[in-house]
Amino acid sequence: MKSRRVRLVARPKGLPLDSDFQIEEFVVNPHLEAGQVLVRTLYLSIDPSMRIWISGQKSYIDPVPLGGVMFGAVVAEVLQSNSSKLQVGDKVQGFFGWVQHAVVSDKEARKLPSDIPPELFLGVLGMNGMTAYFGLLDVGRPQAGETIVVSTAGGAVGSIVCQIARLKGLNVIGLAGSAEKCTTVVSEFGAHHCLNYNDKDLGKQLRFVCPNGVDIYFDNVGGAVLDTVLPTLNKYARIVACGAIASYNDPRGHPIFNYAVIVSKSIRMEGFIILDYAKRYGEAAAALTGWLQEGRLKHQEHIVNGLENGPAAIRLLFSGQNSGKVLVRVADLAARL
Ligand SMILES: NC(=O)c1ccc[n+]([C@@H]2O[C@H](COP(=O)([O-])OP(=O)(O)OC[C@H]3O[C@@H](n4cnc5c(N)ncnc54)[C@H](OP(=O)(O)O)[C@@H]3O)[C@@H](O)[C@H]2O)c1
Repeated sequence: MKSRRVRLVARPKGLPLDSDFQIEEFVVNPHLEAGQVLVRTLYLSIDPSMRIWISGQKSYIDPVPLGGVMFGAVVAEVLQSNSSKLQVGDKVQGFFGWVQHAVVSDKEARKLPSDIPPELFLGVLGMNGMTAYFGLLDVGRPQAGETIVVSTAGGAVGSIVCQIARLKGLNVIGLAGSAEKCTTVVSEFGAHHCLNYNDKDLGKQLRFVCPNGVDIYFDNVGGAVLDTVLPTLNKYARIVACGAIASYNDPRGHPIFNYAVIVSKSIRMEGFIILDYAKRYGEAAAALTGWLQEGRLKHQEHIVNGLENGPAAIRLLFSGQNSGKVLVRVADLAARL
């Protein structure tokens, strides 16, 4: 059987281009060893960290090698099985990369429940939901009544942080890149206020909506936005350093002029990577599934069709043109192969 996959062929300078990737046909090996399954990808997860993985620098994982198949988390359907654990038709999740079909070990493929759409395990019930859960509750250690500011509040992680913070009784202020996104952050994701960080007077607006200061800043952005939030933080505030998307395409980043506030206000700034919490994923999954089933957690997916549109899907994250979790649909569940 012929299939398709995407290789990284050049290290991007700035925003990733289509020409940094190459799509190729390959023939799927029809022979399954014991414990192996043949899967077809349904959805690829598209994540800002992909920009780091293709940069060539080692971060929390080794970089995608030049000429190698692009890394990525996927949900897939089992087409053939030589495993006692997985049957044809099962939906699985794994880190199989940008491939249409793959032969994988059942040890690499996590079986998904059949009563929940599989793509939710790449977003609200997957890495993004877990990041929001542990970042807020473990790193941020919120107390009811405190004020939190959340950047990328309309995005995959930020929208869930806003909702969990609201469930925990916090005063929630979102930051997003457009008035339209801000409206959604308030109407759908439970923020009390949402400010457009592109407004020149962001610092002034923050002081107006947070008259008692800010206790937690959930930082997905770094750079200029972090610098503007710093002076609004209270004594003993916490900064959850979850991401720094403002610098992923430009490693020189942005100078932080207000750094000394961290010292003078005894602020705790703590970074984390969701993989640190692997042993506790079950705890987050139970809580997130519960809130979802009770109708207390909303989610939004931004679907891009076709494996060949993976690079364009990455670019959406950096232009802010995504509305929620970006996924690439590779195959339709209704289609035969
Ligand atoms: N620590 C971890 O383990 C972990 C795990 C997952 C994700 N993350 C981090 O969490 C952050 C959000 O990831 P996500 O998957 O949820 O993406 P997302 O928020 O769904 O999409 C990215 C958003 O970032 C905003 N953005 C892009 N460039 C920006 C800039 N220069 N300044 C300010 N905002 C900018 C855009 O929103 P606007 O329209 O609002 O500008 C864009 O929609 C990223 O930094 C990511 O690396 C960390």
